[in-house]
Amino acid sequence: MKELIKQLVEAYGPSGHEGQVRALIEGIVRPLVDEVRVDALGNFIAHKKGAHGGKRVMLAAHMDEIGLVVTYVDEKGFLRFAAAGGVSALTLVGARVSFGNGVSGVVGWEKWLESQDRPAWEELFMDVGATSRQDCPVKVGDAACFVRPMADLGQRLVAKAMDDRIGCAVLIQALRELADAPNEVFAVFTTQEEVGTRGALVSAYGVEPDVALALDVTKTGDTPEARPMAVSLGQGPAVKVMDSGFIAHAGVKEWMISTAERLGIPYQREVLTGGSTDARAMQLVRGGVPAGCLSIPCRYVHTPSEMVDYGDVQNAVKLLVGLLSSPITL
Ligand code: CO
Ligand code: ZN
Repeated sequence: MKELIKQLVEAYGPSGHEGQVRALIEGIVRPLVDEVRVDALGNFIAHKKGAHGGKRVMLAAHMDEIGLVVTYVDEKGFLRFAAAGGVSALTLVGARVSFGNGVSGVVGWEKWLESQDRPAWEELFMDVGATSRQDCPVKVGDAACFVRPMADLGQRLVAKAMDDRIGCAVLIQALRELADAPNEVFAVFTTQEEVGTRGALVSAYGVEPDVALALDVTKTGDTPEARPMAVSLGQGPAVKVMDSGFIAHAGVKEWMISTAERLGIPYQREVLTGGSTDARAMQLVRGGVPAGCLSIPCRYVHTPSEMVDYGDVQNAVKLLVGLLSSPITL
C-alpha cells in the first residue's frame, strides 16, 4: 500500500485544481467499481453496487490539498499569493512549490535571517525563475502546492498532502479488499474541502446517502508540549466523537466502535478542538444524514511534512472493510 500512498501524496491538487489527482484516482478506482461519474464541482463518485435493499453508504475522502494562489505578478516577474486553505506563513520561507503546468518555484522572504517574528503574508513572494512580467510562466489565479517527496521512515510515513490523500488511499485500499458487500457503496473523492467542505456538500446531496462517513486526518497530542489530546500515532485509527463543526451521530459512532471491538482492531476516541471535515457537510444536507468520521492520526497537519503511522493506516482499512461488509443497522 506504500506505493499507492506515495503516488497519491506526491500528486498535484490544490483546492479547485483537482483534475490531475482525480485522473490518477480514476485510473485506479474505475476497475474496482460498477459505475463512476464526476459532478459539477469535480467530485469523483464511484459506485459499487450491493445486495438488494442494502443501505446507501457514502464515504468521503478529499482529494484537494492546501495551496497558494497567485494574486499578482510584478514587473520583475516575482509573484504575490494568497492561501487556499489553512496555510501558515511559518511553513513557507524557503518552501518549494509546483504549479499544475509543471512550473516550480520557491517562496522568498528578505528578513529570514534577522527577524524573530513570523513573516507577514504581504512580505512573502514567489520566485519561479522569471525575469519580467512578460516571461512569467504562471498567471494570476494559478495555484501551487508544496513539493516534497514522501519519506518512508519504516513505521512512519511523512509527506505533504497526507491531509487527505491518506484518506483517499484508505478508501481505495478498502475498495480493493471489499468482496461483494450487502451495502450500496459510494466512494466519493471530494473537492474543495480545505476551503470549506464544498465538494462534500453537493456530492452528498446528489448521492442521497442513508449513512455517511468521512475519512480524514486528525491532530495528535503526542508531541513535546502538545496540548492534551487523547489521540496518538500508532494507537489505531480514531473514531471521531466531535470537532469544532461536527458532533457524530450516536448510532454511527456506536456502529464504528462495536465493529472495531468485534474485529479486535485498536481504535481511539477523538475530540478535536480545532478544525472539521467533510462529515460536517454530509451531515447537514437534505433532511440531515447520520454521519461519522474515521480519522487517521497525523502529526504536523498543514505543514509540508505531515506524519502518519503505517499501522494506523492499515487498521483504518481493516475497520472500513469491516464496517462495509455487514448489513448496517443504526
Ligand atoms: Co486539512
Ligand atoms: Zn483534511
